[in-house]
Amino acid sequence: MTDRVVVAGAVYDRGRLLAARRSSPPELAGRWELPGGKVEPGESGEQALVRELREELGVEAEPLERIPGEWPLKPGYVLHVWTARLVSGVPAPLQDHDELRWLGPGESGTVDWLEQDLPAVAEAVRRQPGG
Ligand code: CDP
Repeated sequence: MTDRVVVAGAVYDRGRLLAARRSSPPELAGRWELPGGKVEPGESGEQALVRELREELGVEAEPLERIPGEWPLKPGYVLHVWTARLVSGVPAPLQDHDELRWLGPGESGTVDWLEQDLPAVAEAVRRQPGG
């Protein structure tokens, strides 16, 4: 069986990268991630990312490029990451998160990222506008 894809966004706005702190499930709570979620049947990765960012953060975002690579999550799930640009709205932790932070250049090490997000975060930082 092929793995279920989870998409996450490296969302940039004015040279900063968005980080989100998970509030659930208990084993992930308190750790920071690039926000996103599972791709539903019939959706493209980009469509899923736009939907998840709308549902979880209340913003409209535009996917820019897929960061090459695929990272294992829990068994049966893999992470794909897209860079994205904030188009409208102010992100708010509506679902799954209890805090959001915009990280400026040099600040990506200031939050406790989920281990599985670290390789993608490194790539996201390399692509950070003005970073
Ligand atoms: O919102 P939805 O239920 O579709 O998905 P989710 O619960 O946000 O994410 C599905 C799984 O992927 C969870 O186990 C998350 O912890 C994991 N995930 C991750 O490891 N890193 C991310 N950047 C996003 C999700």
